[in-house]
Amino acid sequence: MDTFVSLCKRRGFVFQSSEIYGGIGGFWDYGPLGVELKNNIKKSWWRATVQEREDVVGIETAIVMNPRVWEASGHVQTFADPMVDCKNCKHRFRTDDLKANDPSREGRCPECGGELTESRMFNLMFKTFIGPVEDEASIAYLRPETAQGMFVNFENVLTTMRKKLPFGIAQIGRSFRNEITPGNFIFRDREFEQMEMEFFVMPGTDEEWHDRWIESRFSWWTDALGVRKENLRIREHATEELSHYSKRTVDIEYDFPFAGFAEIEGIANRTDFDLKQHEQFAGRTLRYFDEASGEQVIPYVVEPAMGVDRCFLTLLIDSYAEEEVRGEKRTVLRLKPELAPIKVAILPLSRNEQLVPPAHRVWDLLRPHFMTQYDDAQSIGRRYRRQDEIGTPCCVTVDFDTLNDEAVTIRERDEMTQVRVPIANLVDALREKLDGC
Ligand code: GAP
Repeated sequence: MDTFVSLCKRRGFVFQSSEIYGGIGGFWDYGPLGVELKNNIKKSWWRATVQEREDVVGIETAIVMNPRVWEASGHVQTFADPMVDCKNCKHRFRTDDLKANDPSREGRCPECGGELTESRMFNLMFKTFIGPVEDEASIAYLRPETAQGMFVNFENVLTTMRKKLPFGIAQIGRSFRNEITPGNFIFRDREFEQMEMEFFVMPGTDEEWHDRWIESRFSWWTDALGVRKENLRIREHATEELSHYSKRTVDIEYDFPFAGFAEIEGIANRTDFDLKQHEQFAGRTLRYFDEASGEQVIPYVVEPAMGVDRCFLTLLIDSYAEEEVRGEKRTVLRLKPELAPIKVAILPLSRNEQLVPPAHRVWDLLRPHFMTQYDDAQSIGRRYRRQDEIGTPCCVTVDFDTLNDEAVTIRERDEMTQVRVPIANLVDALREKLDGC
């Protein structure tokens, strides 16, 4: 993990939030390269989940919702983790983490060996107050999942978009959980981004749709993101593990070097739980008129739900490689071109004043088409290594021959092959190498 934390900090992917004040546990900032990778992950998910499908639409809902939403959804009563405190050093732990880490030390603090309190439940929702008065009546919550935004807008979307079952509503947005033990870098945060989709189906077809979505989501991880299949698995939740709303849940898990297999996405059959609850709490009918039977039905819901930050970490780890090239170590992120933060680096062979104008001309030519970076510091070999380390698929080198032949060299990250290309054909040649992105 130290390797990834250090790479992320050194190369501008992820910084500790409020670092100059000593940071704050469970909160992270994304740097210039991190925000590019994150946006590329979101674009890929949105394309597969909304743009390419005829049966899913997207929305964006508010983070703070009417607090009744969280009573209806069950989060006020049940969104809690069991925790224990150390009576000696006052550290707080998740009870299930303690058991998993070292069952032989159960009942003792892993930090100081002190005695632990009895396990008690701790609600994970962040509370805030709306308006100037801080009393019970003004309590509101930062959403712990984006899903409820879709349920409370079911009727709005159904009527405005004239949708027929089955159809889905998707959303990307921030969620907040006051995790007892945030950690493993960006794996478990207190503020994170989710990409969730609620797929509304006719009751009775839910199990079949659930299976379809499990298959389709697994393929997205392998085909769209290029995560290696051997590092992924599908795990069925045991009955006692199921969330209060779920009839069946399956996790897609990644084999993390620091934790073994752990959840990166959950695909749940939420039944008609949420719509029924909102009908009851809001006193509104949230039904679908089924023309075939002439009846009003409450749809069932299949929900694929994943976290952007956990996906980011998965991609860093899965694409990371260390190799030896001509006796030297090279670190490379083998990210798919569409995910890479920088697509093309422009590297003049040196800072010689004759090379600066053509190198800048090439940079000006490429900037409207690709995310680029210009780098003229240190030797060309060092600069190739720097680009490999952040996953840049193509480098364009401007050298003294360019002054005569109006051509440049494209060097590819994975095979390190080099081809000479006329500047006039450069955009097309790069587009072909970058799989059209
Ligand atoms: N609406 C269902 C739901 O929120 P979840 O399994 O609690 O289900 C879905 O969360 C995904 O959100 C997880 O698979 C994970 O990728 C991400 N996630 C959940 N809690 C997280 C946290 N504290 N930090 C980072 N990502 C988190």
